[in-house]
Amino acid sequence: MIKACIFDLDGVIVDTAHYHFLAWKRLANELGVEFTKDDNERLKGVSRMRSMEIIMELGDVKLSPHEKEQLANKKNTWFVDYVERMAPEEIFPGVKGLIRELKNRGIKIGLASSSKNAKTVLQILHIQNDFDAIVDGTMVTHSKPDPEIFLLAAKKLGVEPFECLVFEDAEAGVEAAIAAGMKCVGIGPVTQLNKADKVLDKTGEFEVEMLTEF
Ligand code: G6P
Ligand code: MG
Repeated sequence: MIKACIFDLDGVIVDTAHYHFLAWKRLANELGVEFTKDDNERLKGVSRMRSMEIIMELGDVKLSPHEKEQLANKKNTWFVDYVERMAPEEIFPGVKGLIRELKNRGIKIGLASSSKNAKTVLQILHIQNDFDAIVDGTMVTHSKPDPEIFLLAAKKLGVEPFECLVFEDAEAGVEAAIAAGMKCVGIGPVTQLNKADKVLDKTGEFEVEMLTEF
């Protein structure tokens, strides 16, 4: 029986995944590296430094650890700039209602985002108090597809991994949820997320009645 729902943030609750893409593309292009939406799929769900390394791999760019750090910081400045101009209304339709209904059914609500900016985004959307537990990129050492972030979220929520249902838009995130022994709803194209137990186009399409499917 599902006792907790754990949400990824970027691309599941709000389209900040697009802002990550814009900022990484800007950085890649500055380095003379071509960067497409397809390339971006590999960056979804993984940490900032791992994303930086993937861009370097794509363009066969060599950088010192210091340069790497500086460029990743630059990307983050652009990302934060996009996010700070975001309106609370940009939260995906139906997400607030879904969280409310899940809570009414006694389901615990967790957040598991690899982003170090997760709390800022939640504050901008005015939903920081809607979660029973929040785990972000500042609290884990291993990035998705490692299950660490989801296992920590389950621990904080006081539930067993098999009692958790994860909502994820990233392939790495789906893999992490499965590795944690959790059930997973993929948000996005089924071709990309076919390892998930169920795939929906949008988070708001999930209905509480679907909990019995897992
Ligand atoms: C999320 C996003 C990734 C992003 C990562 C780190 O998981 O899906 O695209 O790179 O968080 O985000 P940060 O805000 O810490 O750079
Ligand atoms: Mg995501």
